[in-house]
Amino acid sequence: MRLEDAKKDHYRKLAKEQGYRSRSAFKLIELNQKYNLIKSNDNILDFGAAPGGWLQVASKLVMPKGKVIGVDLLPIKPINDNVTIFQGDIRDEKVVNNILNEIGRKVDVILSDIAPNISGIWKIDHNNQIDLTRLIINRFPDLLEKNGGCLLKAFDGPMLKPLENELRKNFTNVKLIKPKVSRNASSELYIACRNFR
Ligand SMILES: C[S@@+](CC[C@H](N)C(=O)[O-])C[C@H]1O[C@@H](n2cnc3c(N)ncnc32)[C@H](O)[C@@H]1O
Repeated sequence: MRLEDAKKDHYRKLAKEQGYRSRSAFKLIELNQKYNLIKSNDNILDFGAAPGGWLQVASKLVMPKGKVIGVDLLPIKPINDNVTIFQGDIRDEKVVNNILNEIGRKVDVILSDIAPNISGIWKIDHNNQIDLTRLIINRFPDLLEKNGGCLLKAFDGPMLKPLENELRKNFTNVKLIKPKVSRNASSELYIACRNFR
């Protein structure tokens, strides 16, 4: 077995043992330990949330009073009393407007682990993933509290630098990182941002 597959298997097993719905849960645990983005009593919005590993992690981190909202194209099974789930395509403006109406306030942290269907053609996948991430960023003024933070998945490639530059204009602190759980060969990385201006 290749080292990469062995690593994937290890985290899949660990997720099962610890009751997480995806091995992605360990990415959020690791990145939050590093950047301390999600705190007790925060309100969180998670884009591309199915099957719900990040929602499970965030739900625990924001206790006792924080709330978590998750949205995905796919259905997500209920998680906890402090988690609200929306199903829809975030490319449809109405889906995000609907979430905004329901929550009636801005959130402290925005998460996105969003990934389009993978075609296997790197350039297309990179473009599609960055387009989705940009849609989310464009709604930050409506969705994110001043001084809020975000953690965003991004596929590496030529469109990443302009996206990073835009984030640097809007946040005082921006870091790019590849968590241990991500496969080395994948072009996936995460952008952690603090203090939305
Ligand atoms: C890597 S998975 C997220 C895993 C999740 N963070 C977890 O811990 O379980 C990426 C998700 O993005 C969702 N997605 C992709 N395009 C979307 C869109 N246009 N609107 C909403 N969700 C989308 C996919 O359905 C998929 O569930």
